[in-house]
Amino acid sequence: MTSELNGERQKRASWSGQLAFVLAAAASAIGLGNLWRFPYLAAQYGGGTFIAVYLALVATLGFALMLSEIAVGRMTRQAPLTAFSRLRRGWGFVGFLGTVVPVLIVPYYCVIGGWVLKYFVTYCRMALTGAQPMGEAAAQSGAFFSSFISSNFAPFGYGAVFVAACAAVIVFGVKNGIEKSNVAMMPLLFLLAVAISLYVVFLPGSGDGLKYYFVPSLSALSGSDGAFSFAQLGRTVLGAMGQMFYSLSLAMGIMITYGSYMRREDSIEKCVRRIEIFDTAIAVIAGLMIVPVVYMFAVKTGTDVKEAMNAGPGLMFITLPKVFATLGGAGAWLGVAFFGLVIFAALTSAISLYEACVASVCDLLGVGRRPATFFIGTLVLFLSTFSALGYGAWKDVAPFGMPFLDFFDFTTNSVMMPVVAVSTCIAVGWAVKPEAVIDEVEACGSRFRAKRPYVFFVKYFAPVLMIALLVSEVCRALGIGGWKI
Ligand code: PFF
Repeated sequence: MTSELNGERQKRASWSGQLAFVLAAAASAIGLGNLWRFPYLAAQYGGGTFIAVYLALVATLGFALMLSEIAVGRMTRQAPLTAFSRLRRGWGFVGFLGTVVPVLIVPYYCVIGGWVLKYFVTYCRMALTGAQPMGEAAAQSGAFFSSFISSNFAPFGYGAVFVAACAAVIVFGVKNGIEKSNVAMMPLLFLLAVAISLYVVFLPGSGDGLKYYFVPSLSALSGSDGAFSFAQLGRTVLGAMGQMFYSLSLAMGIMITYGSYMRREDSIEKCVRRIEIFDTAIAVIAGLMIVPVVYMFAVKTGTDVKEAMNAGPGLMFITLPKVFATLGGAGAWLGVAFFGLVIFAALTSAISLYEACVASVCDLLGVGRRPATFFIGTLVLFLSTFSALGYGAWKDVAPFGMPFLDFFDFTTNSVMMPVVAVSTCIAVGWAVKPEAVIDEVEACGSRFRAKRPYVFFVKYFAPVLMIALLVSEVCRALGIGGWKI
């Protein structure tokens, strides 16, 4: 480790190859967004219709933005904080904002990671000892979840374990820490995801749930009177776009940081396509794991299907445990496998967010990785206190009426990330000019095949759509108009 640390001061660390980079970026992208957010959004916005809109956005907007971020990182060899000011005078503020985003996200992401850890430990206990802390009665009422998140120390404690796990990986550096941990965790994640979804697909009676998930429903495109509605189409596109940023880890400095460790001989264009395929595949598989079982459960218990799917964070922490509780002994093991999978996904994403902060501190101050990891870890622990206590001891201090965790989530995902994304496109498309990115993409020696569409997306398509997203989010928060997502 020391040699890597010393080496880093003279020369920037790098991934060992193209595959290592793709794996790292996919590990960052595949997270809570895929496992919990995508399935319920898809179920809510007309199944197949949402999936089709989402795929179209990933192939256009997502492609342009991810490619631009990775190219900016590789071109400047800097983390976001310093990358933009190197790129063009006067644009340093984009890097500043892009660094604040992960600093605000890591603390609450780790608190949710702590919830997942708590569930994993509880399911292990249930499977091994037969204890029933989340038996049918407790799970039914959601009492387990609410009593856990509102307790005084436990949410902070579990979150702190999660932060410590990320720090333990990051301190070992790019090759020895992040890359090795991904090689260990990602194959397990894929195996668990495929195994659980196969189990669910072959459960008797899963057919209707699968239909509900995949078959396009016109509700995503029509208003309450059943006729085609532009407003409803707009909501579906905006919902899918917000999810795309979230899921692909865009506009939060991560892809710039990871791009800064990329070798020049590797093809950015090929890598972006592979990362997008991995991320989307896991999102669709997550829906296969979740939507049919929740559907069957709703039908069996006479609950409204839409309501059951629409439970937000409750879907993973309240509805799924209820479903597992109805499956008897197999349910506890399914819980172990499912929450084990979520831990891997959340951990690899949290590591990438944490790394974006550490790299920015190293590049700005020229300090080593170890003090930077320690500094960021302390800051994250301090900030996580707010989110950890926000549903319990501090529930009365709710900024803008939101618990702290929701407040951090809203300011970053709905306000700051669209601002960073629009500014990135304008910086790349209009200030620096796309030619610089094109040269960087072609530096590996092969032609940039999607050059022309890229220029159109980055200069026109992306800024216009994203400004619409931003305005709609702000209107939603202020309760103006009918733009509810
Ligand atoms: N892309 C990851 C996910 O889908 O969970 C990581 C991530 C996204 C972290 C958005 C945090 C966040 F707000």
